[in-house]
Amino acid sequence: SGEAGSVPPPVSVLPLHPAIAPLQFLLGRWSGEGEGGFPTIKSFRYGEELFFSHSGKPVIAYTQKTWKLETGEPMHAESGYWRLKSDGSIEVVIAQSTGLVEIQKGSLDAEHRTIELKSELVGNASKVKEIRRVFKATDRELSYTVQMATTVTNLEPHLQAILRKI
Ligand code: HEM
Repeated sequence: SGEAGSVPPPVSVLPLHPAIAPLQFLLGRWSGEGEGGFPTIKSFRYGEELFFSHSGKPVIAYTQKTWKLETGEPMHAESGYWRLKSDGSIEVVIAQSTGLVEIQKGSLDAEHRTIELKSELVGNASKVKEIRRVFKATDRELSYTVQMATTVTNLEPHLQAILRKI
């Protein structure tokens, strides 16, 4: 029995902030597999988990981790924050385990639960010039694609994955 107010209440009892209600479909834990490639690398498969949560504030917290399917060895990870602006546009900031940071801006098609994002800023990257991310959700599935442009390659697919709500 700790002091009242010493810890935040459990997320399950915090009402969703109305500003992020259109993104409610993202909330929860998603798990699945993806496939990576690029013109300059060998293609690969990976396991992945995404977790979208909120604390009653007008922002969704996002964490992602990936692993090698054969061994479970950790691969890329990232985390960030998703918000809806008053004009209906969407803004996402992401920090990657590689040190790269992204500011993503785009739009939500609420009817089709589709989010399209294009990097406004890619920082601390050695090769990456631009990143585009598209997410599509149904009740049970969340799929996404990531495209990137580098110093030597125009915009090409790097990742695609399908995850299920767990
Ligand atoms: C390679 C960026 C996400 C696994 C690369 C390369 C870049 C890059 C610039 C080198 C390409 C080249 O040499 O021409 C990114 C960005 C990501 C991302 C910007 C997110 C937006 C991921 C994820 C995984 C992953 C989630 C694993 C699940 C790999 C692997 C390679 C690679 C295995 C090839 C081997 C290597 O060079 O390390 N990525 N990556 N990447 N990426 Fe990603």
